[in-house]
Amino acid sequence: MKAAVETAFEAAQGRLASGTKSVEKSAFDITLPGRPLRRGRLHPITQTIERMKEIMGRLGFTAVEGPEIEDDWHNFVALNIPEVHPARDPLDNFYLSTAACGLAAEKDTHHAKPQAALGPDGKPLLLRSQTSTVQIRTMEEAVAAAEGKTPPPVRIVSLGRVYRPDTADATHYPMFHQIEGLCIAPGVTMADLKGVLQMFWQSYFGLESNEPIEVRFRPSFFPFTEPSVECDIWHDGRWMEIGGAGMVDPNVLRAVGYDPEQVTGFAFGLGIERICMRQHGITDIRDLYANDVRFLAQF
Ligand code: PHE
Repeated sequence: MKAAVETAFEAAQGRLASGTKSVEKSAFDITLPGRPLRRGRLHPITQTIERMKEIMGRLGFTAVEGPEIEDDWHNFVALNIPEVHPARDPLDNFYLSTAACGLAAEKDTHHAKPQAALGPDGKPLLLRSQTSTVQIRTMEEAVAAAEGKTPPPVRIVSLGRVYRPDTADATHYPMFHQIEGLCIAPGVTMADLKGVLQMFWQSYFGLESNEPIEVRFRPSFFPFTEPSVECDIWHDGRWMEIGGAGMVDPNVLRAVGYDPEQVTGFAFGLGIERICMRQHGITDIRDLYANDVRFLAQF
């Protein structure tokens, strides 16, 4: 028995020894586990944006976009922000400039001074400081499309980047995202505003838990809404400040060609980062933009 096994073993060894070279070269062990593919995922802010768009879509609000480089008219004038308003302060806005070009600058390139980049109205362009600019663009387009007839009602949301020269810290960043909502139609009231926000936040935070979300308004001021409110929601056992809102100021409606005797409307605008951070327990806004995959892959 022993001898039989030994002979068989030696024979096997012999076979292996002679065959190894070619076997080794083409060796391909299909039983080894594969190398996992690293799948990408959406950035947490993008996920928040998609969720908000989806909920507002169900409430009948169409998502629209607007440019991030804006002119004086859309960022200020049409929003009822007067020439001498602190919101226009160069320290609070990223005004754009261009290096001087043309013949004079070519001759003296070392001393080419940056000049303000000007919009069609001859006023300096800037990176938008709020998404309220999209309210103006949307209403202007609706009025233009109506060609003199009564412009149609508007129900839109706009989600995108805004820019303010804040020093980055745990809660500030010079670029962040806002969601803007606008509803214009005959007979729209503040009750509609509260109702829409209530349904929105109930879907956003309270759908699974069925925890009733409460919406609270506090009096506030914005040049483009009258009356204006700060909006808080009761969530997870405390009030959370979420953003500004109000009834669109008649001056804004007039500026874009709506008749404030015919229609009213509400608008709201809030920061997306804060909601995303609250939802995921993120405590430093800078983590969102450090592009560290180890951080981002958690969401
Ligand atoms: N644009 C305001 C802000 O950036 C928010 C706001 C939007 C307030 C719409 C009222 C209506 O703070």
